[in-house]
Amino acid sequence: MSKLWDKGQPLNALIEQFEVGDDLVYDNQLVEADVYGSMAHAEMLERLGVLNAAELEEIRGRLQEVLALHAAGEFRMTPADEDVHTKIENYLVEHLGDAGKKIHTARSRNDQVLVALRLYAKQKLLEVEIALLSCAGTLAAFAAEHEMVPMPGYTHMQRAMLSSVGTWAGAYAEALFDDRLLLRAAYELNDQSPLGSAAAYGVPLPIDRQYVADRLGFARVQNNVLYAQNSRGKGEAAVVQALSQVMLDLSKLAQDTLLFTTAEYGFFTISDAMVTGSSIMPQKKNLSMMELMRAKANVMLALQQQTMGVLVGLPSGYNKDYQETKRPFMDAVDLALQSLAVVDLTVSNLQPQEERLLAACTPEIYAADRAYELVGAGVPFRDAYRQVGAGLSELPPIDARESLRRRTHLGASGNLNLPQLQATIADEGASARQKLEALKSHWQSILSKP
Ligand code: ARG
Repeated sequence: MSKLWDKGQPLNALIEQFEVGDDLVYDNQLVEADVYGSMAHAEMLERLGVLNAAELEEIRGRLQEVLALHAAGEFRMTPADEDVHTKIENYLVEHLGDAGKKIHTARSRNDQVLVALRLYAKQKLLEVEIALLSCAGTLAAFAAEHEMVPMPGYTHMQRAMLSSVGTWAGAYAEALFDDRLLLRAAYELNDQSPLGSAAAYGVPLPIDRQYVADRLGFARVQNNVLYAQNSRGKGEAAVVQALSQVMLDLSKLAQDTLLFTTAEYGFFTISDAMVTGSSIMPQKKNLSMMELMRAKANVMLALQQQTMGVLVGLPSGYNKDYQETKRPFMDAVDLALQSLAVVDLTVSNLQPQEERLLAACTPEIYAADRAYELVGAGVPFRDAYRQVGAGLSELPPIDARESLRRRTHLGASGNLNLPQLQATIADEGASARQKLEALKSHWQSILSKP
């Protein structure tokens, strides 16, 4: 198929291969988004008088065909197609002639790829948010189920103070719940329509950028045409940065899980379906998925660096370098979705071992509690600390559950506020699912007549 910029001179095959690389694998994920963007743009052209009503309907029909072919795995691109935008436009020209040739009026592949990536980002961010909240919900439920199970709390990896399974799992539920704020900031950045910015400098036609933005369900038009182009990669980087934070949380959880399931700790056991074995040691049960989770957090940081690294110092306007942000961006999204699902499943398969946990709450972890008893009797804390410190070997046993309950201030083991956390997580999850459904049905409506 001919390139959109074809002037009769064939492109050297090595250069063509190098420029396309694996970009088409990623463009394959942008087919739907480019169809929606093209449809909204065509509607706008019809309002402008560039296309007539019959041409618009022909375009609508052919774009529906593209979606159907794509769904059937039959809309395949080859390096000669250059990219998804060229492939779709060529399909229209091939089947419609002039109507197809008119669709590139007032657009450039530069704003086309921007809009496609933003639609992709919006959908994926909602999918990630749903997975994130599901995982947070699983952790909060785990916390509630084992809320008052005593567990040593650690600092410097040494036993420190009495804590609980509820506190441990609730901490991760809250961490993930917070991460949704970062996802939402990334969503807002991506929720502005770049269409009409064309190659970065607009077009000498009275195009209606607001119409297209509304039709595609964007919150607003991204005003300055050059900024629209310069922001290629910015929305993507915001997504990958948010996902990096998610992965940091997951990697910490993975490390705790690995540690606490060792024979040495024995705090948790895990279902057999979660573990892999060793080829030489018959007894081995490895939580390899949690080891990979630690490593994949690093992979995510590398993807963040790859996304942002491309952007450093680029001159304004479109530069082909931008294409190189697509792979790390999309890989990051896939990695986050998969990681969240794996952690969700892992947590649902953990079983706390109450006896081991309680046995690990050895008397010295109540040292601070003892000091606070003296504080309650009016002894200054520093003196109480010294008194208890001098008699560490004589600390009498303490009822762990009772002690957990006595920690009543906000966020402590006796006051984790889990029911409210669970309810908010459930509400937010439901609203993210609703938002995703609304987004998808809105996009589908673009393909039906307004
Ligand atoms: N595949 C290209 C990209 O991702 C599409 C835009 C091409 N624009 C251009 N002026 N060559 O950036």
